[in-house]
Amino acid sequence: MAIKFSSAFAKNIKDTAVHAAVCETVEALAIACKQISRICARGPLEHGLGAETGAANTDGDAQKALDVRSDEIITAALEAAPVAYYASEEQDSIVTMDKSKLLAVASDPLDGSSNIDTNVSIGTIFSIFIAKGDAVSSFFRPGSEQICAGFFVYGPQTTLVITAGAGTDTYVLDPDTGVFTLAITNMKIEPASTEYAINASNHHHWDAPVRNYIEDCLLGASGPLGAKYNMRWVGSLVADAGRILSRGGMFMYPGDDRAGYKDGRLRLLYEAAPVAFVIEQAGGMATDGGRRILDIKLETLHQRVPLVFGSNEPVQTLTDYHKKQD
Ligand code: F6P
Ligand code: MN
Repeated sequence: MAIKFSSAFAKNIKDTAVHAAVCETVEALAIACKQISRICARGPLEHGLGAETGAANTDGDAQKALDVRSDEIITAALEAAPVAYYASEEQDSIVTMDKSKLLAVASDPLDGSSNIDTNVSIGTIFSIFIAKGDAVSSFFRPGSEQICAGFFVYGPQTTLVITAGAGTDTYVLDPDTGVFTLAITNMKIEPASTEYAINASNHHHWDAPVRNYIEDCLLGASGPLGAKYNMRWVGSLVADAGRILSRGGMFMYPGDDRAGYKDGRLRLLYEAAPVAFVIEQAGGMATDGGRRILDIKLETLHQRVPLVFGSNEPVQTLTDYHKKQD
């Protein structure tokens, strides 16, 4: 057993076959991510985890050795789980595992690749749907149809943040028992916050609403937002999301005018949608600056989307800056 589920986990899923399949799949992911966590903990002792393989994923990101190893580990785990289809950041197209099985799983096997060799938190993101019809129909749908989603963080603690649609919980991998153990139940994101996360080096590439908003944050207490703001940017989506769940804040990866960045950097299927599900279930908001992320229907497998999420108040304020511009 790799995870000791809380008695309330996925109780809202009334179909017993689906409930069992979700638990079995999360257990398989927990086993896989314990293995990835051990590899991360050994760091340079594993030799060349952050080395580029020479290949690139569909989005043009250079694949690192740990990206590929993590994808292999997740693939092997899901093959033994009730999974019909697997969509991965690291694979060009959807992998059909066993069409007779109940679920479809999407994953970013190793999020935060630029931090691999730096001993900074990285992670694994996953999204689970009930499979329907064929591979494409199983994933080309809005994120609101996810049945379970979450992410593992390999940091000072190895954690699993997860929702099955009835609240968001955090499990910690107890190093003494090797079991993911419920640590925080029914998380609630602070509704207001003056802490934001954005890669500010892209300032001159942003659209006016984001630039105006950040410039107003920088003006502090004497500016229109009337408060001193603080900034944090880990550069691993999972780590920034984990911090925001713990103490509030807002994450932004907006679209910008660099080639290929019209819709930002993050992918809808296996980054934005699962994070949005977890955040909403903790009472926060996730949008593309206007639309709710979970309402956006996937149109291409590796599609990017501008992503803004976190505490309700700042997410709403940024939306208002976009509305003013329109
Ligand atoms: O997976 C993409 C990712 O590495 C995220 O984890 C992170 O939030 C973002 O990209 C970092 O982007 P940048 O390198 O542009 O700051
Ligand atoms: Mn990622």
